[in-house]
Amino acid sequence: MQTSPSTIADPSLEARFHALFGAGVQFERPLAESGLGGRVSGLDLAEPLAPAQVDLLLDTLAHCRLFTIAGQDLARFSLATFERFANHWGAPVAHPSNFLRGGKPAQQDGASNGAITYLPYADRRVAAADSTLPGQVACLPHESPAVLVATNLLGRGVDDAPTLKAGGTWHTDIEYEPLPIYVSMFLVHFAPVARDASNGQWVEPPVDDGAPAPYFSGSDDDLMALRKHLPLNGETAYTDTAAAFAALPADEQAKLEAIRVRRRLNTGDDGWLAPLVRTDPRSGLKSLHSPVWASRPGVRPSIEVDGLSVEDSRVFLDRLEAHILQPRFRYDHVHTEGDVTIWNNYMTLHNSPPIKIGIDRIDDARLLYRLSCKGEPVLTLPRQDDPTWITTHVAGDYRSPPEIVGTRA
Ligand SMILES: [Fe+2]
Repeated sequence: MQTSPSTIADPSLEARFHALFGAGVQFERPLAESGLGGRVSGLDLAEPLAPAQVDLLLDTLAHCRLFTIAGQDLARFSLATFERFANHWGAPVAHPSNFLRGGKPAQQDGASNGAITYLPYADRRVAAADSTLPGQVACLPHESPAVLVATNLLGRGVDDAPTLKAGGTWHTDIEYEPLPIYVSMFLVHFAPVARDASNGQWVEPPVDDGAPAPYFSGSDDDLMALRKHLPLNGETAYTDTAAAFAALPADEQAKLEAIRVRRRLNTGDDGWLAPLVRTDPRSGLKSLHSPVWASRPGVRPSIEVDGLSVEDSRVFLDRLEAHILQPRFRYDHVHTEGDVTIWNNYMTLHNSPPIKIGIDRIDDARLLYRLSCKGEPVLTLPRQDDPTWITTHVAGDYRSPPEIVGTRA
């Protein structure tokens, strides 16, 4: 009999929430059929956390793979406070859309050398969020290069009519570096509440013209349909790769655990070998990390299974991707203002939904802030990361400043 993650979940989490945060804190789980997800309410993240409280939150993610701490008061919970919170999970990394490398936009350029220049907020594309619905929406104040703004508030359409932007591709965050990001988190400022499309949802499904975009051609129709089946109310789509791994026969699990995949930052690089299966150090849950042949088509190189040809790698990984994208492992996460939603990139994949752009009313606004972290979690701040480790793994040697996390002893 297979062991499912939901049946080996830590049964003490609920009791620990009450003991450490008070009886007013509610914790519910799971959020999905697969056993993924949890939701905490009544917990105020504006105040610093005690070490035992951080330990409980780390355990919660280790078992739930994703969880939300709902209802933060954005008048008190600033982006600086959000970044302080993120420091417990790992070293926050500067997002490539927020800096230039060697004078070129780092997001479009894979070169790993060249001086890094952080862009002031006013020079970032997302500053347009402040002038799209003037007087109604503005980003929470920040200059941190670690804050990625995910929004559809990037100016009005050419003819002032909203248009539909198709969803993205299934991926994990920054899996293409030797030390991948393992935790990412959203803070929700605005989520679309309009439900007046003809199907009663926020948007109608994008018209399928039969073209593979944004994917490469060559995958079978069933996989393509699974990839493109995305939520229509602005939810982020997730799939649970711990449950997907647990559902496989033991002999197949053993074969997958022995596999290494070659990842590269850029085409032509030697790259490095990375495990396909990872074990969470807290829960012991095993999961598939980004088992996708080309999760960023045209942006980053496809991966290869060590010992297989390019084409055989593709066939092998397409089969795994079709397994993990089955509806029984899927979860569409509804965003609500004030939510902090944290996910483990080693135990999930996610995708951005179709969204309306060129909007002209606040009911269509979608404005999220993302932070992502690398390395080991810590119970107390500030972090004590080794400077050499930071230089090796964090672009621009970024560290949250002392005014956010305190001063090192
Ligand atoms: Fe992402």
